Amino acid sequence: MTRLYTMDKPDERNRLDAMAQGIIGRPLDRPDGSAKTAGVAPYAAEYVIPECAEGVLVLATISRGEVVEIESGPVLAMPGVLAVIADPRMITRSAQGGAGKSPVREIHKVDYYGQPVALVVAETFEQARDAATRLRIAYRTDDPAKVPLDSEDSHASHESFGEPVQQGNLDAAMRDAAHAVDVTYTTEGHASAAMEPHASIAEWDGNTLTAHSSLQMLKYNQKELADALGLQPEQVRLISPYVGGGFGSKLGISAELTAAAVAAIELGRPVRVVMSRQQVFQCVMRRSETRQRIRLAADAEGRLDGFGHEAWVSNLPGEKFAEPVTQASEFLYRGAHRTLRIDLARIHRMTAGSVRAPGEAVGMQCLEAAMDELALASGIDPVELRLRNIPEQHPSEGLPYSSRRLAECLKVGAERFGWDGSDRRPLQRRESEWWIGTGMASASRVHNLNEAQARVTLSTDGTAVVESDMTDIGTGTYAILGQIAGEMLGLPPEKILVQLGDTRFPPGSGSGGSWGAASTGSAVMVACEAIREQLAQQLGVEESDLTLKDGEAIAGNRRIPFTELLKTDLAETGHFKNGGIDEKFAIAMYGAFFVEVGVNAYTGETRVRRMTGAFGLGRALNAKTATSQCLGGMVWGIGSALTEELVFDPRDGHLVNHDLAEYHVPVNADVPALDVVLVDERDSAGSPLQAKGVGELGICGAAGAIANAIHHACGVRVRSFPITPDKLL
Ligand code: MOS
Repeated sequence: MTRLYTMDKPDERNRLDAMAQGIIGRPLDRPDGSAKTAGVAPYAAEYVIPECAEGVLVLATISRGEVVEIESGPVLAMPGVLAVIADPRMITRSAQGGAGKSPVREIHKVDYYGQPVALVVAETFEQARDAATRLRIAYRTDDPAKVPLDSEDSHASHESFGEPVQQGNLDAAMRDAAHAVDVTYTTEGHASAAMEPHASIAEWDGNTLTAHSSLQMLKYNQKELADALGLQPEQVRLISPYVGGGFGSKLGISAELTAAAVAAIELGRPVRVVMSRQQVFQCVMRRSETRQRIRLAADAEGRLDGFGHEAWVSNLPGEKFAEPVTQASEFLYRGAHRTLRIDLARIHRMTAGSVRAPGEAVGMQCLEAAMDELALASGIDPVELRLRNIPEQHPSEGLPYSSRRLAECLKVGAERFGWDGSDRRPLQRRESEWWIGTGMASASRVHNLNEAQARVTLSTDGTAVVESDMTDIGTGTYAILGQIAGEMLGLPPEKILVQLGDTRFPPGSGSGGSWGAASTGSAVMVACEAIREQLAQQLGVEESDLTLKDGEAIAGNRRIPFTELLKTDLAETGHFKNGGIDEKFAIAMYGAFFVEVGVNAYTGETRVRRMTGAFGLGRALNAKTATSQCLGGMVWGIGSALTEELVFDPRDGHLVNHDLAEYHVPVNADVPALDVVLVDERDSAGSPLQAKGVGELGICGAAGAIANAIHHACGVRVRSFPITPDKLL
C-alpha cells in the first residue's frame, strides 16, 4: 500500500522525539563508509561486465560553429577500434532542465569549446583513447561571439531573469541614508570538482537499456535518458548505489551516459565511457561568473531602509537556468526600499548550472562582504549590525518566518570564537611577517523539498528493509534513512538494510538542493507510520498507544517480539509531497561564520588560521553527517575566497585550468581545524521530521567572512573573488 503525505502546513506532531528511541540524531557512522574506504564499494565505472567495450569522448576545439566532417576512416583502421559514433541521440542538456524542459544541444552544432562531438569505441581503453586523440574533425567556425560580462555592449544582450523585486525607491533611500554603501563585487566561474568523474556503463538487451552511472537524481535521469534515446522511461534502468560526490554536476545526465547508451545499442554489446578529469571540467558544467552591485542604505543606528542586490550572470543561449544570486537577499535582512534583479548574458562557454548552493554560495559571499563595508562605514560591530537587521516578516512578501536561529547562531558563534568586534580598524595586529585579522558573516540558504517515495518492509525475521531510488552522494543518506526507520520501528540500525540508487525501487527525491534527507526521509517516516498502524491493529490498540522498542511491540502489559507477532512481511510505501507550505512561510536555514586569517606582509599569501561556523538547520538527523556537511561547505568557502577560479582563454574560449592541478581547491594544508556547532532547532514547517536542508548551508557566506578578515588584517578590500596574493600587494 502507498500512503500519501502532503506538506501544506506546519507538522507539529514531533513524531521522532515521541518515539524516544534515541536513534535519531545520533552521530552514527555511515554504514557504507567502511566499504568505501576499503575500496569494495563499486562506483559506476568499476563493474566488471563481460565483453564490455570502451568509449572515449572527443570534444570540440572551437567555441562556436558546426562539425562539417568527421574523418573516421583512418581511425577505424586502427587496432581494436570498433566504431566512431556521432549520433544525434548523443545530446547534452543542462542539468537543470530535465527532459523536455531545456534545449537539446545537437551534436554537430558546437556552442562551446569542449562540447562533446563524437565517441570512439574500441576493445580496450588505451585503443579508444589513442584513436580519439587521432580523430580529425573539420569544423566551420562562426564568429566566437564571446560577450565578456564587463563590456559595454554586453548590457545590450542581457535579458532579465525571473521576477525582479522592485519596491519603494532605493535611489531616494540611498540619498537619505545616514550610512550608505554602493559597491560592485565579482566572482569567477567555479567547477564542481567531484572526486568521482562522470562515468557510465550501458547495456542494451534489445528492449531495456540498463546503465551503471554516477548520478544524483535517478527518477529524472531515467526520463532524460529515455527522452534522449526515444525510449519509454520503463525501458531505462539506472543503477547508482555509490556516488563519489555530485555537488550539482550529476543532477542531470551528462554526455558520457547518452554516448555509452547509443554505442551499446549500435554495437549490441556493453560500453563503458569514463570522462577524464579534464573532460569533466570542460563539458559538464560550471557555476557562472557573477557581477553583483550591492546597495545598502542605513539609518544612524545601522538599520537598513534600502537594500539593493543586482546581479549579472551568464549561460549558453537557450538555457533556462541562471545562477539565482539574490535568493537569500530576498528574505535575510530588512529594508523597505528594495531592488533585486538578475540579468543573464548569453555567452559561448560550457553550460552554467547548479554548483553546491546555487545562488547563495556566491550571493551571500558578496552580500556579507558589503555588509562588512557598512559595518565599517557606520562604526557598528558587524555582529550587532546583522542582529539589528533581522526582519519581522519577509520584507517583500510579508510571510512569517518558520523557525529561524540567525540571532542565536550569531551569538553562539561569536561566543565560541571569542569574537571581539570592538576594534575593526585594519593593520592592528602583526605576528612576525603576518598581519592578523578577524571577520564574520551570516549564513543563509533557502529550504527546498522534493516529492519522494520510499518503501519499508518489516520482515518476519525482525529485520527491516528501506528501498528508494534515492542516492547517497557521500552525504550520509544510508545512515540517516536507517536511523529514521529505526526510530519509528524500534529497531537498532544494524537490523535495517537501506537499499538505494536503483530505478527499480520507488522514486525518491534524489540528492539536490539540500532536500534529500528531509524529503526522502519524510517518505520513510510516512511508510513506517503505516506499518505502525498495521501492528497496532493486529494488537487491537491505538497506534499512539503502541511502543516499538528493541524489536518488540509493547502495548499495555503485552510485549511481543516482531518475530512472533508477524505472520507475513509488512510492506508499505510512503509518498511525500510538498503541498505548497513554502508559499505560506519563509523557510530557510541560517548560520554565522567567524574567521581568523593571517596575510603575509611580503607575499600577500592568506592563511585561514581558524574558523567557526554555527548553524541552525532544523533537526540534525545524524549529528556526525550533518557536521561533516557543514565542514565541507566551509572548506568550499575557503576555496571560493582564495583560489577557485575557472580561467578561459579569450582567444578561443577554451578552459585553461581544466584539472585539479591548476584549478585550486583547498587541500589539507589549507584548512585549519574547523569548529562547527549545530544550534538546536526543530522546524515544523521544514518537514514532518522537523528537519531542513543541510548540504549547502556551510558554504553560503563563508567566503565573505574570509574577505572581511583579510580586510581587517591588512586593510585591503578586495571586491573580486578569489582573493589571490596579487590583489593584496
Ligand atoms: Mo545541488 S548544486 O542542487 O546538487
